[in-house]
Amino acid sequence: MPLKVLVTAQMPEEWFDPLVRVGHDIVLGEGLLDHDGLVGKAREVDAIVSVLTDPIDAAVLESGARGSLRVVGNIAVGYDNIDVVRAAELGIAVCNTPGVLDAATADVTMFLILACTRRASAAEFALRSGAWTGWGLTNFLGSDLEGSTLGLVGYGRIARAVERRANGFSMRVLHHTRHDSGRPGFVADLDQLMSESDVISVHVPLTPETSGLIDARRLRLMRRGGAVVNTARGGIVDEDALVDALESGELASAGLDVFVGEPHVDARLLSAPHLILLPHIGSATWGTRSKMALLACDDVCRVLDGQAPVNPVHATAAQPAR
Ligand code: GLV
Repeated sequence: MPLKVLVTAQMPEEWFDPLVRVGHDIVLGEGLLDHDGLVGKAREVDAIVSVLTDPIDAAVLESGARGSLRVVGNIAVGYDNIDVVRAAELGIAVCNTPGVLDAATADVTMFLILACTRRASAAEFALRSGAWTGWGLTNFLGSDLEGSTLGLVGYGRIARAVERRANGFSMRVLHHTRHDSGRPGFVADLDQLMSESDVISVHVPLTPETSGLIDARRLRLMRRGGAVVNTARGGIVDEDALVDALESGELASAGLDVFVGEPHVDARLLSAPHLILLPHIGSATWGTRSKMALLACDDVCRVLDGQAPVNPVHATAAQPAR
């Protein structure tokens, strides 16, 4: 008997082809389902292919468990949108898509680092608004990446991909994780990493422990003229503290791809000086997003077929460093 799979987001049909090939029935949410819609549909399906904007909370999972929901495949490496503890209690498997988005996300991180340090956004704005009156020896001066220090908060796959790129720009790269990575550049104390870095880049998952990790006190530890980049999750960097640091000039620039309460972006962020904002596009390339979707669908097929998923999310373990 064909099983029913809810695919919540709009996407090209080829991206969920693995589900079609084995004969499952696809229920399309087409990005239109709100929380109540998810609760309603979860009860009617055997699997959900979700995206990071879908709140797969206890209510959705419990509704699914009253029906025959067996697996949620999240097209994302992060899974802070899913109540993984409740899923485990209900015997519903959760899978994510690590690995395939490392390069794309590291590219966007480097893009933000370059844009911050070379003041690209302000310079482009000046040109477009007619304020550029001509080349000037001291116009739009930024800071050199060569010889500067990049501090990676977290040292998972994406952070390491950023490190490889930063090495190509002759940056000195340090990293901090809770457990000794055993690799050159490890700094045990996050405060020390903050104070030694010209650029801080965030690569940890959002958990109760990492929420507000880069706060006002830690931002004050940074060298004057420093930059902060966040391509992980909103809320790890305290948005208010970041704006305060930019307005006071303690921080020279910042780049954010992620926000608290997306897609809402706080008004203070929109008007803050030297802040580059992107609409959560870290993994947004055709190649990467299609690989992510296929990976999630493959794992959903495996679980529905009674096999173990390749990328299971374990509720008891802390989220892996991203
Ligand atoms: C993107 O933010 C992801 O978690 O995959």
